Amino acid sequence: TVELNQALLALDWLLGTWESDEPGEGNFPSIKPFHYIETLNFSHVGQPVINFTFKAFHAETKKPMHRECGFIRMQPGTNRVAFIIAQNSGLVEIEEGDLTGQQLNLQSQAVARTSFAREPYVQKISRVIQLRSDGRLEQSVSMATDNQPLMQHLHITYSRSS
Ligand code: HEM
Repeated sequence: TVELNQALLALDWLLGTWESDEPGEGNFPSIKPFHYIETLNFSHVGQPVINFTFKAFHAETKKPMHRECGFIRMQPGTNRVAFIIAQNSGLVEIEEGDLTGQQLNLQSQAVARTSFAREPYVQKISRVIQLRSDGRLEQSVSMATDNQPLMQHLHITYSRSS
C-alpha cells in the first residue's frame, strides 16, 4: 500500500469506508421528508488527491438513489480544502472551505448542470463534514434553489466499516 501524500495528512481521518449507522434525514420545504442510507468511501493512490464515492440508497427498499463521486485537494501549506464533485443528477460542483481540527466547512464556488436539468436549479450548496468525538462521521448538506434560500437538505451520521 502507498503512503498518504504529505499534502493530505490533515485529512487522514476521512480515509476508508463509512456506513450510515441509522437512516439519514432528507428535507426541503418543497419535498416530502425522506430517509436514506449511504456508504462513503475515501481512498488515495499516493497522489496529492483523495478519491471519493458517496452512494445513497432508499432506507427501506435499498434501491440506489443519489450518487456523488470526485476528488479532494488541499492548497499546500494551508487549511484550504477543495472538493471537486460530480453527481448522478447531472450536477457538477466545486466546493471549497476550511479544515478546522476534524471539521470541514465547505461552500460551493461553482455549480453547473446539464442543459436538460429539471427545475428548480440548485444555486448554492454548503456542507459540513466532521469526525465527532464519539468516532462517528457526520454530514449536513444545505442548498439554495431558484425557489428557496439556503436550507438544510440532508443530515446523516456514519460509523467506520473499514
Ligand atoms: C430533491 C438536490 C443529495 C434525495 C432534491 C431537489 C434538489 C436536490 C434540487 C428538488 C428540490 C425541489 O424540488 O425544490 C440535491 C443536491 C444533493 C442532493 C444538490 C447533494 C449535494 C441527495 C441525497 C439524497 C437525495 C444524498 C438521498 C437519497 C432526494 C429526494 C428528493 C430530493 C428523495 C425529493 C424527490 C425528488 O425530487 O427526487 N434534491 N440532492 N438528495 N433529493 Fe436531493
